[in-house]
Amino acid sequence: MTTSGSVAVAGVIGWPVAHSLSPRLQGFWLKELRIDGAYLPLAVKPEDLSLALWALPALGFKGVNITVPHKERAFTLVDKTDPFAERIGAVNTICVDKKGLLTGSNTDACGFIANLQVGARHWRASRPALVLGAGGAARAVCAGLMTAGVREIRVCNRTRSRGQIMAREIGGPIVVVDWADRAEAVDGVGLLVNTTNLGMIGAPVLSMPLTKLPTGAVVTDIVYTPLMTPLLVSARERGNVVVDGLGMLLHQARPGFAAWYGQEPEVTSALRAHVLGE
Ligand code: ATR
Repeated sequence: MTTSGSVAVAGVIGWPVAHSLSPRLQGFWLKELRIDGAYLPLAVKPEDLSLALWALPALGFKGVNITVPHKERAFTLVDKTDPFAERIGAVNTICVDKKGLLTGSNTDACGFIANLQVGARHWRASRPALVLGAGGAARAVCAGLMTAGVREIRVCNRTRSRGQIMAREIGGPIVVVDWADRAEAVDGVGLLVNTTNLGMIGAPVLSMPLTKLPTGAVVTDIVYTPLMTPLLVSARERGNVVVDGLGMLLHQARPGFAAWYGQEPEVTSALRAHVLGE
């Protein structure tokens, strides 16, 4: 890769970061839109996060994405935060402004909803949703569902107390359900979302009986390795519309790109194929 002296630079900060798909994704848009820009993987140890973030203005960075395990800590280190970051308590996108201040936002919630709306056009917020898990991803999903107008969000987490803490901290119409009751909790829902890492390559399979799931309900998973998780395979077999998790990654990346490089990128099938290495 060759760059000009005035190249716009951004990147992704994580630890480890080599597995991140963001450089491939942002690199596709830079090339497609013929932008004089660069997007770098930045491996930053947890103990070095503040040093790395506060150096961004001096290094002339336009901004960065933040990934595991830094999202919550980054929230405490930036100068300003957007309402989604505040509700979720985590930052995944940082922009450096003209004065050198860092604005942290969270685009995961809107990325989740955009993916859902594109993948399941018939989905409506009028029916309850069941969210499995209560980690960082669940917070983003719940924040997105609230913004979309869902009036009942059932949260079911192995550790019930973590679900209760999440409900208290992010507010909204969350009802906490016992993990043991998850098979009954799908009754009447319009959406089932897995936000746990169960079903991911190398992790145990999610045991989630779907007998009571309405056939009109949409099922989505934030796990995208494999693209079709065992949950999505069994939901599709019984006739439910399923939406895989890769689109959330693609959609959450758009606001950062637009802010750093000044052009609105599109999520297309060509982008998807490129990110999948096809
Ligand atoms: P992330 O930020 O990606 O959401 P996380 O905060 O580590 O990651 O959350 C992982 C989620 O997967 C949690 O809801 C976790 O449940 P606990 O809060 O009980 O730990 C859930 N999870 C992980 N392994 C699980 C398992 N074997 N069975 C059920 N839930 C599991």
